Amino acid sequence: VPGPSSADMARAFRSVRRDPLTFLTEVTERFGDTVAFPVPGAPAVLLNDPAHVRQVLQTSARNWGKQTVQYAALARVTGPGLLACAEPNWIEHRRLAAPAFHRRRLEAVSEQVRDAARTVLADQNPTAHSGSVVDVSPLMHRIGLDAVGRAIFSSDLTASTERLLDASSAAAEFIVRLGRSVLPTAQWAPTRTNLRLRSARRELDAVAVDIIAARRRTAAPSTPDFHGDDLLGLLIDSELTDVEIRDELITMVIAGHETVAAALSWTLMLLAEHTEIQDRMRAELGALGSPVSMLTPREQLPITRAAIDEALRLYPPAWAISRRSLAAERVGDVDLPAGTLAIISPWLLHRRGKSWPEPTQFRPERFIQGAPTSGYIPLGQGPRLCIGRDFALGEMLVVIGELLSSYRLDTPPGWTRPEPETLVAVHPRGGMPLRLTPADHH
Ligand code: HEM
Repeated sequence: VPGPSSADMARAFRSVRRDPLTFLTEVTERFGDTVAFPVPGAPAVLLNDPAHVRQVLQTSARNWGKQTVQYAALARVTGPGLLACAEPNWIEHRRLAAPAFHRRRLEAVSEQVRDAARTVLADQNPTAHSGSVVDVSPLMHRIGLDAVGRAIFSSDLTASTERLLDASSAAAEFIVRLGRSVLPTAQWAPTRTNLRLRSARRELDAVAVDIIAARRRTAAPSTPDFHGDDLLGLLIDSELTDVEIRDELITMVIAGHETVAAALSWTLMLLAEHTEIQDRMRAELGALGSPVSMLTPREQLPITRAAIDEALRLYPPAWAISRRSLAAERVGDVDLPAGTLAIISPWLLHRRGKSWPEPTQFRPERFIQGAPTSGYIPLGQGPRLCIGRDFALGEMLVVIGELLSSYRLDTPPGWTRPEPETLVAVHPRGGMPLRLTPADHH
């Protein structure tokens, strides 16, 4: 399998660290859809052919586990929660958590997500002056966190917001440092990082312990149905230990707010750049006659849904997914031995010229006209597909609906797009300053 030499990797070391997306793009341009990295021991391959990706994530998923550096780093923060855990525990956890993400439940939480968006927007009062420039990225983090709290734990996290945001960003930094070796470069001796991780984990634990204790206090466990059908209720009513419950809560905090916040920031950027699409969305949303809900059918919001899909194509927050093979397997025309590390990048796949005409253009219509059915994996694929998929898409819809009903977005003077920064999710480096004007302002 072709790929960069050790000398290439050594030369690229700094740029890989700073900007792995450009590095990955360059290696696929140079070597094709399957690229091998020079590492000792079992091979590490980048897979960028949609058929190969489907094989690893879906049809042959049983042979490709999460025993990778990326997930080991994540597990240092979340413990073996649903996202990081490997078989055989995974299926049990997934079954347990699934009802908390069912449609029934989403119907119940739309209002809470809308409240989260309204509260944060009102608190920030972004348009005290019409046309003021606002960094929407921190706002989206707050909304993401608040929505997870209200909808998944039925808890008001506002009192802990700062602690949680700080702790998750410290944790994210740690995960990134360790997980970076997903692109095999150098080993880390992260002593300082380890210390920061420990304190971040302590903070996250403390908040989780409070949430669990508060719920247990609320009523006698003997009361039927008391614990409720949110995730926290399901976990408390299960056989899980408190430590396991804590891991799941922290998993949801980490997996559930960073990703959504990043997705929303990039979507708002694209809408600010494309005010004609924004106007069509505003008209479509206005024609509903009532505020949009997490479950408003796609047919009623074709352009709005398509814009969200297209934003997740161009800026998929989860930029790299890794797996390791348990047994030898042939992928395409390559025989991969047991222990092979597969690196899959939604970012690369979504910008692959062979799959997407004019791949770097924001063209929501492609999702109305029938986009490719494979090679689009912003929320993963196969059995380990994002459990929060419908929740996340619904949340984006509600938050964008709220924003567009009140504001017009455009780019500030002298606009240049923020660079993508690959943390756990791909975030806009330095934030996302956009101009917000009240929608009824003339
Ligand atoms: C899994 C992306 C929102 C919880 C995943 C995976 C991706 C992903 C790509 C698969 C990872 C892999 O196969 O290695 C996203 C994006 C989101 C989002 C882009 C927002 C736009 C959420 C939300 C939650 C969540 C809101 C929870 C509240 C999880 C969990 C898993 C997961 C628990 C692991 C599922 C399993 O392995 O069974 N997500 N996610 N995600 N996500 Fe999300």
